[in-house]
Amino acid sequence: MVTSPRTLFLQLSILAAARASADRSPKISWNPCNETEFPSAIPNDCGTLGVPRDYSNLDSEPLALDLLRVPALSQPSNGSILFNFGGPGEPARATLSAYGPILQQLTGAQYDLIAFDPRGTGKTLPFSCHTNELDTLAYMLDRAPANSSDTALARGWARGDVNANHCLENANETISLLSSTFVARDLISVVDALDEDGQLRYWGEELTP
Ligand SMILES: *[C@@H]1O[C@H](CO)[C@@H](O)[C@H](O)[C@H]1NC(C)=O
Ligand SMILES: *[C@@H]1O[C@H](CO)[C@@H](O)[C@H](O)[C@H]1NC(C)=O
Ligand SMILES: *[C@@H]1O[C@H](CO)[C@@H](O)[C@H](O)[C@H]1NC(C)=O
Ligand SMILES: *[C@@H]1O[C@H](CO)[C@@H](O)[C@H](O)[C@H]1NC(C)=O
Repeated sequence: MVTSPRTLFLQLSILAAARASADRSPKISWNPCNETEFPSAIPNDCGTLGVPRDYSNLDSEPLALDLLRVPALSQPSNGSILFNFGGPGEPARATLSAYGPILQQLTGAQYDLIAFDPRGTGKTLPFSCHTNELDTLAYMLDRAPANSSDTALARGWARGDVNANHCLENANETISLLSSTFVARDLISVVDALDEDGQLRYWGEELTP
């Protein structure tokens, strides 16, 4: 069958459109991790992905998510599973690197296992409500059950007020970029960049607001 120029043009246009839509989401380029930083008994790849710093303003300066991948033993893999280990405040790459061998066994070794340091942890948009360690320590230690004394409830309330004001003074710019809604969008950005079946396979603790 002879392909007419018009049919050929249509086919090329469709190809170009498909390629343009695939190119819209950036890809992650993976390289072996620095073994000093992420020691592991099995291979680990590290990569970064640029995502919107502020998903409510897509023109905002991008944020680089730091990712770590434990590749499936059999390749091609059946896809990726994304992990978020919680903390709060713990970077996820070190945890995935440390627990990679056991998580690989638990998941059948046919999936690539991926974690990224969530916003507010690691090098990704670091933040603290406090400017000195004394304030951080006071925040950590000054906790008592509300029924532990006559004054415990009022004291806890006042402590909460002080903490909230510290956050407003010292982290006002950053804190609005750290919500669960943005972390959930980061997960989907990673799924889009992986360009597998478009499904999010997720193992983690519930993200808190
Ligand atoms: C690996 O990480 C260590 C510790 O952070 C650092 O000192 C070293 O320069 C890194 N090596 C490479 C090749 O980047
Ligand atoms: C998963 O991957 C293995 C090996 O790579 C393959 O044999 C198997 O068919 C895959 N399973 C599914 C559900 O795709
Ligand atoms: C405070 O409340 C908890 C939960 O109801 C109870 O188990 C505990 O005994 C109470 N403590 C005091 C000091 O009343
Ligand atoms: C904190 O940030 C919000 C939005 O970024 C702004 O509207 C508000 O005025 C800021 N508050 C203070 C006390 O700086």
